[in-house]
Amino acid sequence: MKWPRGSVVPATAAALEEGARLLKEGELVAFPTETVYGLGGDATSDLAVARIFEAKGRPRFNPLIVHVASPGEVERLVTVDERARRLMAAFWPGPLTLVLPRRDDSPVSLLASAGLDTVAVRMPNHDVARGLIAAAGLPVAAPSANRSGAVSPTRAAHVAESLGARVALILDGGPCGVGIESTVVDLSGTEALLLRPGAVTRGMLEGVLGERLGAAAASDAPRSPGQLASHYAPSRPVRLEAREAGEGEALLGFGDTPAATLNLSPAGDLVEAAANLFAMLRALDRPPFTAIAVATIPGEGLGEAINDRLRRAAAPRPGG
Ligand code: TXA
Ligand code: MG
Repeated sequence: MKWPRGSVVPATAAALEEGARLLKEGELVAFPTETVYGLGGDATSDLAVARIFEAKGRPRFNPLIVHVASPGEVERLVTVDERARRLMAAFWPGPLTLVLPRRDDSPVSLLASAGLDTVAVRMPNHDVARGLIAAAGLPVAAPSANRSGAVSPTRAAHVAESLGARVALILDGGPCGVGIESTVVDLSGTEALLLRPGAVTRGMLEGVLGERLGAAAASDAPRSPGQLASHYAPSRPVRLEAREAGEGEALLGFGDTPAATLNLSPAGDLVEAAANLFAMLRALDRPPFTAIAVATIPGEGLGEAINDRLRRAAAPRPGG
């Protein structure tokens, strides 16, 4: 490590190189974009993404935006249709995020998209952001670089105040030009939906698409499970606070759980557990199991977000 953890450093070539090295090691690096500063981690690593949620102190796993350095890079992450191609040609690089269907072979962490079958992608219009992503050679998951509940940072000093040593390195690229988060458009269904307004306006989008955008609730607001796409919850019933598996049940363990079918973290580490959560729920949501029993997860730190997601997976669902 060339600089102490949490250092704010001017985004020189040497600093970008160090940031890229840190990202490849699964560490978090804050970087400027044209909208706000992002808290970046390797989008293909469940562990790096779990560290993002831990650093932000978010009580929930919201899906994150995956940042790329060129439009072609999204082709192996998501399925790109004609509408997406038109919007990318018109507004990328720029403050526009597109929600697209996840490819079956997508390398993006399931935790990054909070278990959804869609992934949000964006190519920022900022040399430091693109330089860092290109040097790391990775898609980079990045929410705004602030603790949960605080306002989004538009200067490197804001990031340092909010996150400090929770981030390995803070690249200083000066103040952000746009200052509000990117527009988010959902193209995963037949109707294009505006999920979050931003600098690329409804009128600009409708002009390029040649169709009206549907309205959706602000996507930063908590959304009910019914509003979310499939893969949000396992299709099998989920039972919490389990000590052992019942008839037909798989047991998802935590800590010392000798009878576990799979264990979120044998060592009882909540970051590791968050990293494994979605992949393990999926792995157990199949025959021969008819239900999933989950061991007790402590409520502190990332445990809050893990329990939030498990409670919603265990809640009664419409249609059984
Ligand atoms: O300008 C920005 O977009 C900044 C910079 C760093 O790029 N990033 C940002 O990330 O604002 P975040 O995590 O604060 O906001 C991500 C937004 C949320 O509203 C989230 O619900 C939505 O994108 N989102 C992400 N993935 C989604 C998905 N698969 N489906 C629906 N909404 C999604
Ligand atoms: Mg935010």
